[in-house]
Amino acid sequence: MHQPHRKVAILGASRGLGFFIAKSLTTHPFSSLWLSSRKITELQEHPDFQWPQKEQQLVLFPADFTQENALTHLTPSLQAFSPEQIIYCAGGGPYGSFHQKPWHSHLWAFRLNLLFPSQLLHTLLKEKNSSFHQLKQVVFIGSAVAENQADPGASSYAAAKHGLRGLLHSLIEENKNNPPALDIRLYSPHYMNTDLLPKNSKPRQQSQPIVEPSAIAEDLIQWSNKSLTTDHSWHRIVKSSL
Ligand SMILES: NC(=O)c1ccc[n+]([C@@H]2O[C@H](COP(=O)([O-])OP(=O)(O)OC[C@H]3O[C@@H](n4cnc5c(N)ncnc54)[C@H](OP(=O)(O)O)[C@@H]3O)[C@@H](O)[C@H]2O)c1
Repeated sequence: MHQPHRKVAILGASRGLGFFIAKSLTTHPFSSLWLSSRKITELQEHPDFQWPQKEQQLVLFPADFTQENALTHLTPSLQAFSPEQIIYCAGGGPYGSFHQKPWHSHLWAFRLNLLFPSQLLHTLLKEKNSSFHQLKQVVFIGSAVAENQADPGASSYAAAKHGLRGLLHSLIEENKNNPPALDIRLYSPHYMNTDLLPKNSKPRQQSQPIVEPSAIAEDLIQWSNKSLTTDHSWHRIVKSSL
């Protein structure tokens, strides 16, 4: 078991899985949080989000990760916070026929699920020994549904999730024989009961198993605190139930 991370940055923390990870971490004494998303400041009014205690630091940093300059915009604040762990939870994409959806909505999905997290990781690896020297672990969120099989109606989202998995897998292999600079992980949940699954989505219509994001958040926190034991343990794929 690692020492639990005390300074955690969560990107995509205003709702869904990221929110429940943040909520859970506020109950851990001495943990400090840096939270970001477009509407992150709305957490200040959220009835279920308890403010950390006095000795805990909480930074709420609004940012849209699909904007061209998003990384430049948020990096100084993230560096100043100096996280030990970063969890990238933002995700989403258009649902429907590929050609009937406008191109900008597919571009949005590529930026949010693949391009921005890839650029973020590139910066973190480059600056691991300087401005991010405290950083020990980065966790990305994949998808047990969309990253290694077809996801009809969510083709650009699935393409981006395939890409993210391919990037991380390649980096793991690339650094296999070097001392690990950074503990890079991918956590791939199945369907979760969040805004990402609209009422008319197939899993809801077909009453498929859908897990509560609070349960996934606890599982992810526990798993991320465990040391890697095998070559494959950097990637946790959650089946339809925990
Ligand atoms: N729900 C599922 O069934 C499911 C299944 C498998 C994998 N996943 C993956 O799990 C992760 C979490 O998903 P979720 O279900 O918790 O989604 P969610 O409830 O829709 O929450 C998405 C989070 O991302 C933030 N976000 C969205 N667009 C953003 C942008 N352009 N810039 C910055 N932040 C942005 C949102 O905050 P703002 O609106 O404030 O920006 C929100 O905090 C994602 O990677 C998703 O692909 C979900």
